[in-house]
Amino acid sequence: MLSSAWLLVALLSSSCCVAVPSPRPVTAGQSITLQRRAPSARSVEDWETWAQNERVFLTNRYGGSIPKKRSEGSNLLTNQNADSSFYGSLAIGTPPVSFDVILDTGSADLWVADVSCTIGCSRIAVFDATSSSTFKNLSQPFDVTYGSGEAVGSLAQDVVQMAGFSVPNQVFGAVDEVSNGLLTSPVSGLLGLGWQAIASSGSTPFWETLASSGTWTDPLMSFQLTRFINATNVQANEPGGTFTMGFVNSSLYTGSIDYQSLATTPSFWLLSLSSMTVQGKNITFSTGSSSYAAIDTGTTLVGGPSSAIQNIYAQIPGSQPGTGSWAGYYSYPCSTEVNVAISFGGPSWSVSPADFQLTQISSSDCIGAFFELSSGNGAPSWVVGDTFLKNVYSVFRYNPPAVGFAELSETALAMNGVTGNAPSATIGSVAATATAGTSGSSPNSASRWSIHAGTIIAALASLVGGVLL
Ligand SMILES: *[C@@H]1O[C@H](CO)[C@@H](O)[C@H](O)[C@H]1NC(C)=O
Ligand SMILES: *[C@@H]1O[C@H](CO)[C@@H](O)[C@H](O)[C@H]1NC(C)=O
Ligand SMILES: *[C@@H]1O[C@H](CO)[C@@H](O)[C@H](O)[C@H]1NC(C)=O
Ligand SMILES: *[C@@H]1O[C@H](CO)[C@@H](O)[C@H](O)[C@H]1NC(C)=O
Repeated sequence: MLSSAWLLVALLSSSCCVAVPSPRPVTAGQSITLQRRAPSARSVEDWETWAQNERVFLTNRYGGSIPKKRSEGSNLLTNQNADSSFYGSLAIGTPPVSFDVILDTGSADLWVADVSCTIGCSRIAVFDATSSSTFKNLSQPFDVTYGSGEAVGSLAQDVVQMAGFSVPNQVFGAVDEVSNGLLTSPVSGLLGLGWQAIASSGSTPFWETLASSGTWTDPLMSFQLTRFINATNVQANEPGGTFTMGFVNSSLYTGSIDYQSLATTPSFWLLSLSSMTVQGKNITFSTGSSSYAAIDTGTTLVGGPSSAIQNIYAQIPGSQPGTGSWAGYYSYPCSTEVNVAISFGGPSWSVSPADFQLTQISSSDCIGAFFELSSGNGAPSWVVGDTFLKNVYSVFRYNPPAVGFAELSETALAMNGVTGNAPSATIGSVAATATAGTSGSSPNSASRWSIHAGTIIAALASLVGGVLL
């Protein structure tokens, strides 16, 4: 439904402005007499244009593909609350109004809080349907459940723009109820970058419309995420790195990108974990579907099966299972530099000791960023979030479906821990023409880990979607 309309728009915009000589129509059964034609008055350029358009037209009609004009976009990210989450910006409606949204490869719906949101929406910009001339209310209920909460509202359709791309009839949830703690000002909602198969709305995700229509130069998206967890004087919102659509930015990685095919038909971005070492020692974990890991930008930490997590901490002398609100986590001596490395079939990728060390809970003990995940309901056994993804350049490829990782470049690494202004909302190379509502003041960063840990713990028993904020 979405893709055909999008293709039409793409086709119109690519051929609107050239005078195209077209062959005379021939109706069925009519014979054409061969005749010598008078020399054409068309210039060589006219014929060239005609020939190119004819080729594109016929190739599209018969399902082939032809190289299209290069089409790539970037969105600068914001790192919220010392690596708790990473958000970007998009715009909805006519005229476009910009919103900050969590970029989440672990789910597949787009939603934003709307003006009627009374629960969980304080101090954020909200979507006002009455101020968009292209808004369409689909009048169907929308409800998405994540590990850390739920968003409820109704389905709508409007123009959505991001990083210079536009989908004229994107379905999204206009949400009026959000679980407490799911949104932290200034974030208004979430953009799911997983596959349609896991969309609560059943609609084609924004990215998938663009990837499948051949709009992008390369059918992929990528992330470079910054690290502030061990930096000093961290503000609530810091520069978060880069999200690209349609290309990989070769300034941000070195060497080659190692792609691994998805473990199942596309749903989550699911890879099979092939090996893991802690302090250089192999960790034993269940294989088969129990080793499937969702590669998830919307999850802060790394969750895995209890037995595997136990085996990880067994390699760290002095570690102990957490108690009380830290149940499911482990503590370990802060003085230990924990080196975890993970492989999904290709190279082994290291997680820095800084990312492993989530927070300090006593004079000597710290909490580790790998926790016990009780999965169920078809949720993946492992969820590999930002704790891991900050250490690599990550690529999410539509076709053939795969996730790729590469080493970060010096340029990318140099952005870690460098405090600065968070990027302002954009919908392309220019700032959005309008911004909704007020963004209010910054959250209290001193209490960030307790809030954060609380939502994760509440989520442990019932992980359904991919996001753990
Ligand atoms: C869409 O219509 C439903 C009723 O069918 C209403 O409850 C909802 O508020 C409307 N949404 C918007 C964003 O106007
Ligand atoms: C690639 O990343 C570098 C470093 O952030 C940036 O300067 C450059 O503009 C990016 N290139 C593109 C095409 O976005
Ligand atoms: C760990 O296991 C991998 C295979 O999964 C093997 O190639 C490697 O040699 C093992 N490393 C150690 C230190 O035992
Ligand atoms: C933070 O951790 C990274 C990765 O281990 C390290 O390179 C960097 O020096 C650390 N920064 C500080 C301020 O300790």
